[in-house]
Amino acid sequence: MHSSFVSLTLLGSALAARPFLNEPDTGFDEFFSSLAPGELPPLDQLVGLPDFDAAARRHMSTQNYTYYRNGAAGEWSYRNNLEVFNRYVLKPKTMVDVTNIESTLPTTILGHNFSAPFFISPCARGGYGNVDGEKGLVEGAAAGDILYMPAIYASLTIEDIATYKTDDQVTFQQVYLDGNDTATQLIFDRIQKSNSKAIVFTIDSAADGNRHRAARYGVGSADSSYTLITWDLYDHLRTMTDLPIILKGIQTVEDAQAAVEHGVPAIYLSNHGGRQIDGARSAFEVAIEIHQKAPEVFSQLEVYADGGVRYGADVVKMLALGVKAVGLGRPFMYANVYGTEGVTRAIEMLKHEVAIDAANAGIADLHKIDTSVVS
Ligand SMILES: Cc1cc2nc3c(=O)[nH]c(=O)nc-3n(C[C@H](O)[C@H](O)[C@H](O)COP(=O)(O)O)c2cc1C
Repeated sequence: MHSSFVSLTLLGSALAARPFLNEPDTGFDEFFSSLAPGELPPLDQLVGLPDFDAAARRHMSTQNYTYYRNGAAGEWSYRNNLEVFNRYVLKPKTMVDVTNIESTLPTTILGHNFSAPFFISPCARGGYGNVDGEKGLVEGAAAGDILYMPAIYASLTIEDIATYKTDDQVTFQQVYLDGNDTATQLIFDRIQKSNSKAIVFTIDSAADGNRHRAARYGVGSADSSYTLITWDLYDHLRTMTDLPIILKGIQTVEDAQAAVEHGVPAIYLSNHGGRQIDGARSAFEVAIEIHQKAPEVFSQLEVYADGGVRYGADVVKMLALGVKAVGLGRPFMYANVYGTEGVTRAIEMLKHEVAIDAANAGIADLHKIDTSVVS
């Protein structure tokens, strides 16, 4: 396994020289050529998650779309997040009974039941894509029975978001924290009151992101100050709430191991969608590093990951490495342009793709997937 990953990394460097396509050509432009400028294609004619990006790009104002689309600096990490999945291939097994694969989609995330091993990553400013802000994300997640992680810089407040949740809907609340105990306690109390089941502490943004594309339109990061984020702070935060605190933005095997030592219940591998520091590896590559150097981490705590996931096969590859649940940011923000129906449809599309891609890879049960299917 190790050697095939190494040789494919070399092959990947060669492939990376090809021109980058933000939206792979699957005929979207020809098919929707009769649409008026800015007109949204009918939702039922979209065929995959990249279509939501294409639709949103045509519909949203350039400024608002730029906030969603933007990556740091020359956007190498943004592109790499998308391209990395093509540098690691699937090795389909045949003669396997895969007919029950759909029944194996449901999973638990920190003990809570969901219908699929993917979730909606925390993204600020849902109002840029829809006048109702995050309403469609909350309601879509409920309809599709998947986890939603609202961002602290969502357009709606924590309390507003709670009003759109169904009675038994589980959400995890993302936060940025600056070490000010009074402010932190206030946020923790609001989260507890809103019935969120976990706190997702983003630790990959200790400084402003270097965002060139966004700077042109004045739509930079919602969290732009230098912030003191240390293990001491994490240990202290745990004394301030009973809720589990997940760390989002782990990018090395050493930090993953340190998280185990500090009793972190779950880590979330992410380079913030390539928005913070250009040149940082994708979460998929970090998961490979953990798989190679410290595979025990995947059973010592729950590992989530996001960045560049657009197809069912991407989810399958992440799960194969031991990732428990896979997040998607931009695809759901673009789907939310259509509101609840758009987010619901995006979830259904991805569930279907995960199931058929896993089945075609010869996986009978997603809970028993292992690395032999990817190299
Ligand atoms: C528009 C936008 C806003 C984001 N805002 C936040 C945020 O407030 N907090 C955070 O932890 N991550 C934020 N992220 C990063 C996402 O949580 C996630 O890591 C990333 O979008 C995953 O990459 P993907 O968009 O390719 O799926 C944001 C991403 C986008 C696209």
